[in-house]
Amino acid sequence: MIEKTNSTILSNEKLASSIYLLKLKLKEQVSEILPGQFIQLACTGNEVTLLKRPFSIMNAYNDTIDILYKVVGKGTLNLSQMKASRELELLIPCGNYFSTPTSSGVNLLIGGGVGIAPLFFLTKKFPDCHFDLWYGTSRKNERGPIDNWTGSNVKFHFHSDWNTVSNVEEFQGTILDAYKENSTLTPSKIYTCGPTIMMNKITENWKNKIPIEVSLEARMACGFGVCLGCSFKTTSGQKTVCSDGPVFNGETVVWESL
Ligand SMILES: Cc1cc2nc3c(=O)[nH]c(=O)nc-3n(C[C@H](O)[C@H](O)[C@H](O)COP(=O)(O)OP(=O)(O)OC[C@H]3O[C@@H](n4cnc5c(N)ncnc54)[C@H](O)[C@@H]3O)c2cc1C
Ligand code: FES
Repeated sequence: MIEKTNSTILSNEKLASSIYLLKLKLKEQVSEILPGQFIQLACTGNEVTLLKRPFSIMNAYNDTIDILYKVVGKGTLNLSQMKASRELELLIPCGNYFSTPTSSGVNLLIGGGVGIAPLFFLTKKFPDCHFDLWYGTSRKNERGPIDNWTGSNVKFHFHSDWNTVSNVEEFQGTILDAYKENSTLTPSKIYTCGPTIMMNKITENWKNKIPIEVSLEARMACGFGVCLGCSFKTTSGQKTVCSDGPVFNGETVVWESL
């Protein structure tokens, strides 16, 4: 059940250009939280922001959760200016979660930008499963030190190709192109999170061949299925990203409706 609670900032570290790692201490243990779930965080500061903002959980252990975020607007700018020991209200845990990875084959993970966060959590939650992790950022200086944190169950690849393409849409495909050019792996399952166009292309590439789970993004208001602000089409009807998702079978998503 989603709870409203208070947390305390333990640290809020700048990792790379506009990318931060926020560690929050909660009042209760967080061992039940699963990869794919997110929080709705109050980001009030100098800039006025009434609505809470959604962020994937990047790790959860004891009474602490980690959030990897990129500064893109008022709320995340406020967040980037906050110091340790400040209290922040949040809703937790929101949304559904990824299915259990396979332990008999390799799980392919493709994360674009801060979309790497829930995929990283998956590798931590299932240390006995094997992962091939592909991490792409639009610019090299937006890369967080994910490879320093991954365990021996993860083969890590990083790709950034901003300079070689002329527009964002072409760029979004290049993490997939890099994978296709450099990997002979046949994964058993695929998990992806990042820009919508990247996840759409990944689904197109492997549909009807390998199960694909996508963690979607949408502008959110309530964050728990009431306002329908994040609703979109699937092959089995209208769904909300916040309460039916954010994780969906990629093949069921009607991508044009996002
Ligand atoms: C389930 C879910 C998980 C998310 N996890 C993360 C995460 O782990 N780390 C992270 O940095 N961000 C994450 N996001 C995106 C994050 O919620 C937005 O970047 C944030 O709400 C922007 O708030 P803002 O006030 O700074 O920006 P605003 O001032 O509200 O908007 C600034 C710009 O960001 C765009 N934007 C705002 N919200 C979103 C959104 N939800 N998706 C895409 N673009 C948006 C706007 O179109 C605008 O161009 C997630 C979103 C969802 C739905
Ligand atoms: S944000 Fe209100 S229904 Fe999803």
